[in-house]
Amino acid sequence: MRLFTSSDMDRILEIEAQAFPKSPYSRRILTSLYQSNPTTFLVYGEEEILGYLVYTPEGHIISIAVDPRHRRKGIGTQLVREVFGNSTGEFIWVEVRETNTGAQAFYEKLGFRKKGIIPRYYWTEDAHIMVR
Ligand SMILES: CC(C)(COP(=O)(O)OP(=O)(O)OC[C@H]1O[C@@H](n2cnc3c(N)ncnc32)[C@H](O)[C@@H]1OP(=O)(O)O)[C@@H](O)C(=O)NCCC(=O)NCCS
Repeated sequence: MRLFTSSDMDRILEIEAQAFPKSPYSRRILTSLYQSNPTTFLVYGEEEILGYLVYTPEGHIISIAVDPRHRRKGIGTQLVREVFGNSTGEFIWVEVRETNTGAQAFYEKLGFRKKGIIPRYYWTEDAHIMVR
């Protein structure tokens, strides 16, 4: 695991497109997230990047995605555990699509709990707020 650098961008866009085919973050959005969170934008992998995570230093998980060929190998868990060790706030939180039951199970296993709903957070879909 290491910090993102701008030469990782093309690969992150690939992972993003596979993970969120209907609404991937654009290059412009990911660049802006990097500029705002340069010390908390992580990539996982050696020769090839297999996953990434961006969060705010306080502990708001903004986005996480793992290459579909490498899921259920503990990569997502390792990325989120970095937030446990390094965020400065009292809580860690994330918004998750109501239909994204796989991610909800993932966060629940990591000790997050559903604490509320943000109606229409994704325009046509509600978000669960999950907090640890
Ligand atoms: C969510 C995501 C990041 C998880 O990454 P991962 O590397 O596969 O997660 P891990 O291997 O660390 O999973 C740990 C545990 O979480 C649970 N889990 C993970 N994915 C799950 C799924 N799709 N369904 C049910 N449980 C799941 C399991 O209990 C798993 O342990 P197990 O494999 O021993 O059963 C990955 O599925 C992904 O990139 N999804 C698409 C993008 C996305 O939805 N991001 C979150 C948006 S908020």
